[in-house]
Amino acid sequence: MQNTELLLKKLTLEEKCALLSGAETFKTRGMPQHGIPQIWLSDGPHGLRKQAGESDHLGLNPSVPATCFPTASAVANSWDAALGEEIGAALGEEAAAQEVSVVLGPGLNMKRNPLCGRSFEYFSEDPYLAGKLAAGYIRGIQSKGVAACPKHFAVNSQETRRMASDSIVDERTLREIYLTGFEIAVKEGHPRSIMSSYNLVNGTYANENKHLLMEILRGEWGFDGAVITDWGGSNDHALGVKNGSTLEMPAPGGDSVRELLAAVESGKISESDIDARLSELLPLVFDTKAALDAAPREFDAATHHALARRAAEESLVLLKNEGSLLPLAAGNKVAVIGDFAKNPRYQGAGSSMVNSTQVDVLLDKLIDSELNVIGYQQGFDRHGKPDAALQKSACELATQANTVILCMGLDEIAESEGLDRSNLRLAQNQVDLLQAVAAVNPKIVVVLYSGSVVETPWLDNCQALLYAALGGQAGAGAVADALTGKVNPCGKLAETWPLAYADVPSAADFATRRKTVEYREGLYIGYRYFTTAEKAVRFPFGYGMSYTTFAYSDMVADEQGVSLTVTNTGSVAGTEIVQLYVAKKNSELFALQRN
Ligand code: BGC
Repeated sequence: MQNTELLLKKLTLEEKCALLSGAETFKTRGMPQHGIPQIWLSDGPHGLRKQAGESDHLGLNPSVPATCFPTASAVANSWDAALGEEIGAALGEEAAAQEVSVVLGPGLNMKRNPLCGRSFEYFSEDPYLAGKLAAGYIRGIQSKGVAACPKHFAVNSQETRRMASDSIVDERTLREIYLTGFEIAVKEGHPRSIMSSYNLVNGTYANENKHLLMEILRGEWGFDGAVITDWGGSNDHALGVKNGSTLEMPAPGGDSVRELLAAVESGKISESDIDARLSELLPLVFDTKAALDAAPREFDAATHHALARRAAEESLVLLKNEGSLLPLAAGNKVAVIGDFAKNPRYQGAGSSMVNSTQVDVLLDKLIDSELNVIGYQQGFDRHGKPDAALQKSACELATQANTVILCMGLDEIAESEGLDRSNLRLAQNQVDLLQAVAAVNPKIVVVLYSGSVVETPWLDNCQALLYAALGGQAGAGAVADALTGKVNPCGKLAETWPLAYADVPSAADFATRRKTVEYREGLYIGYRYFTTAEKAVRFPFGYGMSYTTFAYSDMVADEQGVSLTVTNTGSVAGTEIVQLYVAKKNSELFALQRN
């Protein structure tokens, strides 16, 4: 093990400056002459994306096969930080097997507005839930000696103009909404690194923001790890270094090193700023390298697939179940309709895209189940093109079935890093198909695939709605088991589903082309707004049904917390997520109905 202090005495200033930026797209600079190894960093939040060949940070080129777990927005519906920790440990193990020192995740930005193109990569609109889950992932990843890198710090809520937009937010909202999740993640997860975001916050780039990086992150929360820039997210490296940013990624080249050197020589920053950053980076490099050297070079893909399936089961949310249509009994004559049943949509696009070790298909899982699958029809063009022939064939099949399992969802283009969504609707051809099928067979279960909220004006056209989210490579088995009752879907929504997009408080000021984005709604995001304003929603935050019922009794609340007895009063096993909200009585400041 190298001693950082001794090393700082040996390194020349130029060498020190060089160490503070990456050498390749996903690699740091090594200096063998000083015993400093080069380390790998890889995405990502829900599966490893190590590109062994040509690298990019947009998810373009394939990466080595890895387990694709449900996305953060799906796992959040489990409200289960221990599950997050198990997923994190599996991610850490796969990273170690691939000699990756830093996993670039989890992502925990607040869902200010459901149109954010990366909503699928983030947990929730609630900072407490997001922070707890992120801390779980971080503990898991780091239990394997690999560093986690929670992202994107901070106030990064949209993809439009993501490298230039300026989030204007008041201090109370900053602290109570946008920083709280990170604070929990840092204090309870102790990540060894954190990724700064592309955007500006109140006029200063997040990566150069003294208030965020020095005063709050390092000063108040005691973070002593490396702040890593988002890829291409450094604007003034010297200012970043002075204000707490450690490593510039991906590979800015010699100019960046020379600029940093010149900044020290001209007195813009001091050598002690550089030394401080190296004292954060070098221990991470040495410690993770030592852990990787001792780690196995393989992982058990079948075990990780099984974990991905359990995670998908816990993440399912039953949104509607009229007349207890679900679960379907053995022998039920079902028609399976919808392209997503055969061509799964199970992850989002961009830097988090995983080259999965295997992908389960719902249609296969249903055929293997005790249901009587009488046929499959594609039903619609996935990318929205109207197709009367596909619709007609689907309706013909539906007439012969007892129950229709209709798989609807967003396509790959709708949800991606780099782009915000333009609306919350499902493609019209899918809605038309649902209506046409409902006219011939009203017993419809919709299985919905999307990484985030959709408007559901079509809800009356189905009797049951199972939200499968983006359930990862093993999601299909979880859905099949939920449809047949082997699994009781018990997840609860981690974000509010409004009746219509216009109801979202930030609707008027989201993803505009303006340079500044004013967070005028302040604290009032998600359920904090809807409950305080008493505005109706389609499905509230925390909503989810179950195949069983629960009774709460003996509730005692005191300064230590709340305890109660939860009794399963139904006839099948199930999990209950107990939710506790707090509000301040007689607040002199404006206050929320629920926190
Ligand atoms: C994304 C990060 C990602 C990085 C490396 C960036 O474009 O914003 O989330 O970790 O690329 O792939």
